[in-house]
Amino acid sequence: MFEELKSRPADSLLALIKAFQADERSGKIDLGVGVYRDGMGRTPVMRAVKAAEQFLLETQDSKKYLGPEGDLQYVRLLQPIIFGKAPSFAPRLVGIQTPGGSGALRLGAELIQAANPSAKVLLGKPSWPNHAPIFGAARLAVKEYAFVDLVSQQVKFDSVIEALSAASAGDVVLLHGCCHNPTGIDFTEEQWLEITKLVVAHKLVPFIDLAYQGLGDGLEQDAAPTRMILEAVDEALIAYSCDKNFGLYRERVGALYVMTRTSDEIGKAESNMAALARVNWSMPPDHGAAIVRTVLENTELSAMWRAELAEMCERVNGNRAALAAAAPDLAFISRQRGLFSNLSMSKDIAVALRARHGIYMADSGRMNLAGMQPADAGAIVAALRAEGCL
Ligand code: LMR
Repeated sequence: MFEELKSRPADSLLALIKAFQADERSGKIDLGVGVYRDGMGRTPVMRAVKAAEQFLLETQDSKKYLGPEGDLQYVRLLQPIIFGKAPSFAPRLVGIQTPGGSGALRLGAELIQAANPSAKVLLGKPSWPNHAPIFGAARLAVKEYAFVDLVSQQVKFDSVIEALSAASAGDVVLLHGCCHNPTGIDFTEEQWLEITKLVVAHKLVPFIDLAYQGLGDGLEQDAAPTRMILEAVDEALIAYSCDKNFGLYRERVGALYVMTRTSDEIGKAESNMAALARVNWSMPPDHGAAIVRTVLENTELSAMWRAELAEMCERVNGNRAALAAAAPDLAFISRQRGLFSNLSMSKDIAVALRARHGIYMADSGRMNLAGMQPADAGAIVAALRAEGCL
């Protein structure tokens, strides 16, 4: 039967990892896949994570199954970090551990499919390239609308309003909670307020993807829009990832939280989430969640994690400032947040930047600002000028 399969291209973003490794030039710069890099170009294991791993090594006495919900203490300890200390909606909130943010998105998509298969998912473009395929794989219709104009680097807010106003009750709106991937362009507070009003007025369901909390302006600031919208709506889903803010990428550490209309519906949501997890991955991998739980259970490790995350955030914003200072045309980069900015360029230019200058970014023109050093700013600007991007 396998002869019937058609070959599929490798994911172009993930292919950059291997292409960069294979490049033997010494001055190459990796602005490709979204991982943090420090001042030495490394993606280190965070200090608190190392200490938690050491603690687990010494004290963990069993690896027996935990169940499809995963480590529920991990899920609970993350809650105040994401949602604040005592949000009014806490009694209507339920969460389970998932393999990364992608697992949370897929589980959420399947939960929507089970609850309301005719719901459409509104997706502002550009978005993370895996969003539409994940919702499609769960057999949900995806309705795309223009979110950002890459030439002006501005939100097309009229288009956002139009898309949300035309949606039907029960439709789902995918929103990036902070640090928009791929553009780094987040809504302003006024725009979030406007979106919240529209979501409430049209009875839409926000599905918030929060994968970079702490890497924009800080843990509290980055969670503020999510908290605001949850205070106002009846139902919501939140796909959370610890892959970036705990530097646990390959451990696949995420969670899906669902907010139901009433606290009575929590049990239904929870049992469906567990059943869907069971048929997808049965039980999520434990190690990464156990690390996060260990860090959050320990005051000292927690403080260590927060301090290191704040350093990472500062470094990324410093890189943004360095690049913006190197070319007036790139001033917008210092106003954007998170790991990414997306320049307006053709795939040919992205390919030429790799081939001629050893500068690796996604074919879409997305750059991971965490991948550079401030001293690289001049070389990046010179390459962009040479290829006619500036
Ligand atoms: C990215 O956007 O670079 C990361 O989220 C990695 C991925 O899975 O695409």
